[in-house]
Amino acid sequence: MCFNGKTLLLLATLTISTPAFSTIIELPTSYNRTSPWDDLIELGVANYTETDCIRTCVADEAPRVCLYTFVLEMYAAMGTACGDCADGVMADCFQPQCIPTDSFQREVMSVNRQFPGPPINVCKNDMIVVNVENQMAGTGSTLHWHGMLQKNSPWMDGVPYVTQCPIGGTTFRYAFPVEESGTFMWHSHTGLHRPNGQYGALVVREPRSEEPWSEDLYDHDLPEHTIVLSDWMHDTSEMYFPGLPSRKPGTAPTTILINGLGWYLYGDGSDDSINASLPVSTFHVQENSRYRFRVINANSQVCSYVFQIQDHNMTLIATDGQPIKPVVVDSLVSYAGERYDFVIETKNASSEGSAFWIHVRGLGLCATNYMDQYAVLSYNTNVTELGIIPTATRPTIADPLTMSVVFNYPNTTCGESSEYLCVTDLRTIEDATTTDNSSIWTAEPDVRMFLPFGFHYFDAETFHLQGDYKGYQNNKGSSIRAGTMNNLSFAFPSEPLIFFDSPSDVDYCNVDNLPTDCQTSDNTTGSSSYCACTDVVVLKEGDIVQLILIDQSGETDDSHPFHLHGFDFYVLYTSNSSSNEYGYTVAEVTELVASNLTSSWSDTNIPPTKDTINVPTAGFAIIQFKANNPGKWFFHCHYEWHAATGMGMAFWVEGDMPPKPPGFPTCGNFDPLS
Ligand code: C2O
Ligand code: CU
Repeated sequence: MCFNGKTLLLLATLTISTPAFSTIIELPTSYNRTSPWDDLIELGVANYTETDCIRTCVADEAPRVCLYTFVLEMYAAMGTACGDCADGVMADCFQPQCIPTDSFQREVMSVNRQFPGPPINVCKNDMIVVNVENQMAGTGSTLHWHGMLQKNSPWMDGVPYVTQCPIGGTTFRYAFPVEESGTFMWHSHTGLHRPNGQYGALVVREPRSEEPWSEDLYDHDLPEHTIVLSDWMHDTSEMYFPGLPSRKPGTAPTTILINGLGWYLYGDGSDDSINASLPVSTFHVQENSRYRFRVINANSQVCSYVFQIQDHNMTLIATDGQPIKPVVVDSLVSYAGERYDFVIETKNASSEGSAFWIHVRGLGLCATNYMDQYAVLSYNTNVTELGIIPTATRPTIADPLTMSVVFNYPNTTCGESSEYLCVTDLRTIEDATTTDNSSIWTAEPDVRMFLPFGFHYFDAETFHLQGDYKGYQNNKGSSIRAGTMNNLSFAFPSEPLIFFDSPSDVDYCNVDNLPTDCQTSDNTTGSSSYCACTDVVVLKEGDIVQLILIDQSGETDDSHPFHLHGFDFYVLYTSNSSSNEYGYTVAEVTELVASNLTSSWSDTNIPPTKDTINVPTAGFAIIQFKANNPGKWFFHCHYEWHAATGMGMAFWVEGDMPPKPPGFPTCGNFDPLS
């Protein structure tokens, strides 16, 4: 949003104009990608303050250093920067540093006083350098570049106590070469900062000539057509952690936001509450042309969203940064952490009207709470035009959900009806595979892991005993619980895993290596004994790894999207829901897996590659990857509260890693626990 209306002119060309303030720092041809630190100093990066690399990517151009300063602050939404925005002076809502959100005043954890935070738009092979200055008093932080594989830069992954120490009241420089193109995001990976506002878009383009699969698909791929969907509450997320038994129970979001804007719709499904003098996001296009849009689901909470554009189909062309064979849909469902790229073809404005509603409807808990949101697709208007309201009838959440081809709808049977398309109905483009990933999807796995996940419920009467302080979440009444994987709640170590040379130096656990105080547990009821420890699984470099995620959470109106750091994986299978609300047992899934669920894949029938997969409610998902990226990689549910209470684990992938950057900040226990 920051460059909307400033320097970008919406022209029927592929040109992206470069903001005037940028100084170009090119990477020398001798640049050694495996040791960014020394070379960065050579480049004199310290002498520059900001170098935005937003531009049209062209072949044979020297890659650049893209240097950003991200200042993290406690800031106000609808604060003093917003003038009379709340009273309907639309232009005030777009004043510098004004964060209107849904017009409710609350604290926001901001980055550069923008929301969503500053978008990063670079070209493949550029180097992203972000100086993160943490000005949030008393609050440590880290930023994660969601979907970036960090090959040769595992120190830059941004997971506290896994790949670095939290950044205190100091500055930390992230620097990594960008080796993959596609749609990504960045977000805080510390505490519950993400739902408080610290996230933004990260888009990597490459010259069209190097993306031959996209050649005939679209005419324009513009930075202002990146759509960040997110959820928003009217309290800071810390109020819900561990939570209050009866005052605002649950962690359902209050509002859906589209690029940080939206109407507060009171969650009653009625229309009278809309204050159309407050802004919603507007996407500007020209008639009779084809545009690539990129949707980022930056949700922190338990809802998926149906995304629809009035009178327009969407041709899906990529997911999680990976190209797929094009698929035409009219409704696109996404889950927290996923990204989808699609193409829309605009019509003839005069005969079809000139502005259309973009409608996002929440599913699961958000449908129960009547949550939806709007944005506008406007033809032939200037990017500076504010507050465009289509004359076409506005769809509402009270309308029946009309879909003719819907992608990724929760708990549908895959491959059996042309109306419902699942992730496993997508196909990787053969040309997009390389020798490095050849046949991972058909290979016999070296390691196969069954990973049931869910919650441990504590007994409220015995939980509050003096001297025993377990991490938990109280999301309503006396429900006290912690997230689990394999019945273990992930606990961060006191020193980052990446600091250790050998797993034997770390006090870690896993299913084959349970701490003595953890009793055996019963998988089927969702209420096994509680065990919190640093769950780490060691993998050999080059192993083919198959993970079978099994939802045993017992939650019937939501599902859990899992995100893997450091790798893309092939999605080999997603199941139906079990008739048992606590899902399939490991024994049942073992039997099903033995019946060759994944045998239809071949060299010409390639499953989709992703880094985030939603596991069907009370179902399971099978994913497979090659452990070809040495490092320490977090793997977790992308719902903030679930991850925060332990629904995650880490992979330790052996192999040669670049050395710790000189002067890398340290942390750890002092004496008592040593
Ligand atoms: Cu986007 Cu570990 O997360
Ligand atoms: Cu979860």
